[in-house]
Amino acid sequence: MTTPASTGTGTLDVRDSRTGTQYQLPITDGTIRANDLLQIKAGADDPGLRSYDPAFLNTASCRSAITFIDGDKGILRYRGYPIEQLAEKSTFLEVAYLLRHGELPTQAQYDELVYHVTYHTYVHENIRKFLEGFRYDAHPMSMLCSSVAALSAFYPDAHHVHDEEQRNISWIRLIAKLPTMAAFAYRHVKGLPIIYPDNALTYTENFLSMIARMSEPRYEPNPVFTRALEVLFILHADHEQNCSTNAVRAVGSSHVDPFTAVAAGIAALFGPLHGGANEAVLYMIKEIGHPKNVKAFVEEVKSGKGEKKLMGFGHRVYKSYDPRAKIVKKLADEVFAQVGMDKDLEIALELERTALEDEYFIKRKLYPNVDFYTGLIYRSMAFPTDFFTVLFAVARTAGWLAQWEEMLLDKEQKIARPRQIYTGYDERPYEPRINERFPRFGSKDSLRR
Ligand code: SDX
Repeated sequence: MTTPASTGTGTLDVRDSRTGTQYQLPITDGTIRANDLLQIKAGADDPGLRSYDPAFLNTASCRSAITFIDGDKGILRYRGYPIEQLAEKSTFLEVAYLLRHGELPTQAQYDELVYHVTYHTYVHENIRKFLEGFRYDAHPMSMLCSSVAALSAFYPDAHHVHDEEQRNISWIRLIAKLPTMAAFAYRHVKGLPIIYPDNALTYTENFLSMIARMSEPRYEPNPVFTRALEVLFILHADHEQNCSTNAVRAVGSSHVDPFTAVAAGIAALFGPLHGGANEAVLYMIKEIGHPKNVKAFVEEVKSGKGEKKLMGFGHRVYKSYDPRAKIVKKLADEVFAQVGMDKDLEIALELERTALEDEYFIKRKLYPNVDFYTGLIYRSMAFPTDFFTVLFAVARTAGWLAQWEEMLLDKEQKIARPRQIYTGYDERPYEPRINERFPRFGSKDSLRR
């Protein structure tokens, strides 16, 4: 949830019951500064009070002007523009520019952006060879993560992160080359010859061409699929301080190059609780198998048996419908009008209907999130299930780069290095007699915990 900077100021008056001392902590932008707690000590050798917030459930890690979310009202805006309007009227490249620069581009700025991105779509041939080193059944997210990290070896000057020109060219290279590398990974796994970029096509048309072109001299993009992909890229472009963006900011705070920082974001996005959810939704629908099995599946999720979750449902921030899910559902209707309804969509619709009426989900404010219908659209466009998160990564690169640069230019930011509550042993002497060591867990002969 974004705390609007305007959420009043004031003071928090606290009394430490250990000492009886009163403190007044300033409230700014609806937050207190954790460092203001350090003055609260229980004694002379007390290092001072710390805040404890596993998984950062209630901790603002930065000030950001890029994306605003109101989870209760289901609001999502990029640089103040409602996601619904951007999805309807903008293009992914225009949104990528907006996220980075804070303003929509003029025609001249847009034309320059399109030119530079178009003429940086190729990758070094050794990247293609690197991708060919993977087995036929490699997960494309593993291929994408490692090949994006490898790019830093091809652009050694990118580590000059305080040089704006270097940041500009790295931004162009990443936005331009992610689709190429994603498509190369796809074609490798499929055992198909690589299709090189076609600079006469738009960003999304070119991506579909590198994915789907076979023997035809030029790929004829399907306008419904092209627009659907454009909208899905826009919807996935940024989402304030999500898990993968937090990873990019934390890794980038060491002043490593942006290729390596973005690779960290891809790694975080891979997880099934985050970007991997769109893939997990399809596996869940396959497991259900038929709309008539939905009720039993939902009961199993509610029982907590096997720790099953309703993938594509729930969100750390949205406690009402994810505004992106509404747009994706409408898109799904358009795409399925083109390719025809199928059983998986019927299962998804029955799953949503059942969950939205069930007290378990209502009480926990679990609604469909952006991933619930996305996978069904990608599947209807013949993308394999394990490729869905790659499509998420291509789009989110725009947000990761905007957030990475905002972090770098933020004078308040330093290398990310959280503290901890230590729960381990007190000091103890080394035991040189190996047969006299008794591990804390299991028998003295067992290595298992
Ligand atoms: C994305 O952060 C972002 O912005 C992410 C994202 C982005 O654009 O970057 O929006 C993209 O990652 C969307 C989320 C995709 N993930 C999934 O669809 C996976 C399924 N969803 C859950 O794993 C879960 O909802 C999370 C991870 C999304 C959110 O988890 P939280 O905020 O830590 O919530 P929680 O796990 O504490 O759940 C609260 C309760 C628990 O029940 P109780 O212990 O109170 O009994 O709700 C239950 C959970 O068990 N619950 C679910 C559920 N999600 C939460 N129960 C069943 N099915 C689910 N999907």
